[in-house]
Amino acid sequence: MKRIAALCALCVSSFAAGRAAADGVIKIGVIAELSGPFADVGKKIDDGIKLYLRQHGDVAGGKKVQVILRNVTGPAPDVAKRLAQELVTQDGVDILAGFGLTPNALAAAAIATEAKKPMLIMNAATSIITSKSPYVARFSFTLPQVAAPLGEWAAKNGIRKVFTIVSDYGPGLDAERAFGKSFAKNGGTVVGGVRVPVQNPDFAPFLQRARDANPDAVFAFVPAGDQGIAFMKTYAQRGLAQAGIKLVTTGDVVEDAVLDAIGDSALGVVSTHHYSMAHESPENRAFVKAWVEAFGPAARPDFINVGAYDAMEAIFRVSKKLGGVIDPDRFMAEIKGLEIDSPRGHIFIDPATRDVVQTVYVRRVEKKDGRLFNVEFEKFPDVKDPRD
Ligand code: PHB
Repeated sequence: MKRIAALCALCVSSFAAGRAAADGVIKIGVIAELSGPFADVGKKIDDGIKLYLRQHGDVAGGKKVQVILRNVTGPAPDVAKRLAQELVTQDGVDILAGFGLTPNALAAAAIATEAKKPMLIMNAATSIITSKSPYVARFSFTLPQVAAPLGEWAAKNGIRKVFTIVSDYGPGLDAERAFGKSFAKNGGTVVGGVRVPVQNPDFAPFLQRARDANPDAVFAFVPAGDQGIAFMKTYAQRGLAQAGIKLVTTGDVVEDAVLDAIGDSALGVVSTHHYSMAHESPENRAFVKAWVEAFGPAARPDFINVGAYDAMEAIFRVSKKLGGVIDPDRFMAEIKGLEIDSPRGHIFIDPATRDVVQTVYVRRVEKKDGRLFNVEFEKFPDVKDPRD
């Protein structure tokens, strides 16, 4: 019965896809976390898309581009799968996009394969996602891509013993493994670690354990947004910095959008990531200027906004190349090897894995003109997801 339902879904999908093309519209079905504790992740995706459309209009390859936005409500794989199915069968989308959280991306990948729909990841960052469907490509980053360089940097910069704190799901486990491996390879020792609940964690007992282990530094990954603020506040309250325990993190914890809320306790934190609002380049200066014009003087673009913005650039570029006709296999062939001069720097999509290859920057939180920024001071060029 299930099989028949799936087949019917596909009949409907080819009908719907034909209808979309006949309408002269390219439809993008965006699945994003727009409510619940991860609502800021979905909103960042939406804002990145909005800025792109504001700057570039809504026509690509001679066709109108229509974004159909759906709220997946949090880490909710069943909802993500149902929404992907509905977007394909009822709305007749040509492309699936969005996906702030790993569980949602993993669940929707099966639909991308069944329905042959390109699926562009705007944030979700567990390594394995792109291997789940030949129609998935990623424009954000992976946790191993940024955590492995940090392990190397930490070991080469006087940090000998580290205690790890990660969120207990795909990206956290990826970060823990990749950091630990490269830290050990470069002479460091992980003296202990904890995995914290994905939803609403209380960081206090975990940071106490970290303090009791008396490492040189704590390594941390938590999903970007409110959790970064909570983690950093608890880190300050528990007196780890006063005890001489340094903090190294992936950029998620101290992302641009939360630095104002964290305040001065973030000063000096070293992180690795693929985008900083303070990145020095003409592309980024133009992007930040446009961001502030669109969202107000206090608004700060961050890496999730940039992931969404770059995925839109890819959709527009490939749609133009294909003359507005979204054949899924031709679309994916164009995505493979695509290069973008992004606000984060030059990126390209590895044809073998459909994953993004990019520079990973080492940054330190510093104050400039009274405001906190992740200031880049070292870089690892052309980093691929390590896939190990
Ligand atoms: C993910 O669920 O893959 C994820 C979410 C937030 C991040 C990074 C990764 O900051």
